Amino acid sequence: MDVTVIGCGYVGLVTATCLASIGHTVRGVEKDPRKLKTLKDGHCPIFEPGLQELMQEHYASGALQFTDNVKAATQDAEVIFLAVGTPPKADGTVDMSYLEAAGKEVCDALAENENDYLVTIVVKSTVPAGTNRKLYNFLKQQTKAYVQVVSNPEFLREGTAVHDFLEPDRIVIGGESPEAFRMMRRLYDPIVKREEAFMTMNWESAELTKYAANAMLAARISFMNEMTILCEAYGADIEEIRKGIGSDFRIGPAFLKAGCGYGGSCFPKDVAALEHISRAIGHESLFVNAIQKINTAQKVRFAEKIMQKLGRPIVGAKIAVWGLAFKADTDDIRESPALDVIRHLLDKGAHVTATDPKAMENMKHVFKDEVEWSPDPVSCAVGADAVALLTDWPQYSTLPFRKIAATMNQPIIFDGRNCLHRDLMRETGFQYYPMGRPAVENALRLKHKV
Ligand code: UGA
Repeated sequence: MDVTVIGCGYVGLVTATCLASIGHTVRGVEKDPRKLKTLKDGHCPIFEPGLQELMQEHYASGALQFTDNVKAATQDAEVIFLAVGTPPKADGTVDMSYLEAAGKEVCDALAENENDYLVTIVVKSTVPAGTNRKLYNFLKQQTKAYVQVVSNPEFLREGTAVHDFLEPDRIVIGGESPEAFRMMRRLYDPIVKREEAFMTMNWESAELTKYAANAMLAARISFMNEMTILCEAYGADIEEIRKGIGSDFRIGPAFLKAGCGYGGSCFPKDVAALEHISRAIGHESLFVNAIQKINTAQKVRFAEKIMQKLGRPIVGAKIAVWGLAFKADTDDIRESPALDVIRHLLDKGAHVTATDPKAMENMKHVFKDEVEWSPDPVSCAVGADAVALLTDWPQYSTLPFRKIAATMNQPIIFDGRNCLHRDLMRETGFQYYPMGRPAVENALRLKHKV
């Protein structure tokens, strides 16, 4: 099919590339001249495993093209995706200006193109309930083009986005037109493995499904994070509890990992938006509010724990931060717990050294010379009074810990992601503080005896 994707940011580029990879002809529209040049040079402007290779393959074959010209790009399009950003405003409400601008531009282009076949506009951006209906009414008023609107929320995780797109649990399509539903079914045919996985519903249900999915996942994490407080007070182990409840098929094991808080460009934004969507109808959502409060408190609790257990004043203490990205396999630092934890430590007078395999350049723009930057975790920890591990990069669990302990001022690790092994920490001479799990407190003394 002939497809246009407006917006080649994270979601748009993954969508455009993956649709090209399943046989469609796709034009990606990007207005940012720098980003467009990067794309036209055959490079991927974001770090996402597998995306660059797939993009280059289909760009080279001509199945995937890039332009900044909406009119030309939509000339023959059967399906037009709107995949522009809907970032949060300062008050937590959704900034719809990019989507409105894209909608208007597509509307003008359709009016000029005067095609006589059905064009389906697909809203991929995460938008409040009612947006698709408004867009449809707007297009109906403004153009005579034969056009339908469907909502098609994305459920891509950064780091596994290509896999998530090509092997989806489900594809959610919201709308009112059976013809548009059929068009979307045809578009996604190569990746619909089970008919039940292709779901059609009304616009508002699809729009709210997106927010509900992210809020539910964030709620599971916040619940487990709150449980870490009980675990630490009563001597329980959150990992055992995770296994204990995750094996119940009604609960399931995913998204129950406790840590120093969730981050990223989606959970914090979408949970906040859901709160505002509720408020807009005069409903104060206690539940959604609690998800956010627990998350904020967990980041502070982690930083406070460092100060309590450090065994020396935080002023002038050197804290080595391992991991800056909001999760592993990405260079994305948006709403990363590292932002809050580092800010807290700096405000209390700590000297922070930091490292990350992918996200360091992004974080340098935030903290500049307030933080000392290290190329790797081993050099980052030299002379440190403690390590704070904030991202679950797999390589952090196989470091030469004995050597690291020997170079530190005091061998203490605060594991904000519960990704290190207690026994290894004990054996290599570390004092070790995970989240909601028993700590190793006697290792320091043992080391000194030796
Ligand atoms: C999330 C959703 O998982 C996707 O389904 C959704 O499409 C996407 O948001 C979006 O709305 O675009 P993403 O933000 O890429 O994807 O990352 P996740 O893997 O969901 O992780 C989010 C945060 O939760 C990370 O900080 C991660 O470390 C944390 N997390 C995740 C936990 O603390 N515990 C867990 O058990 C899982």
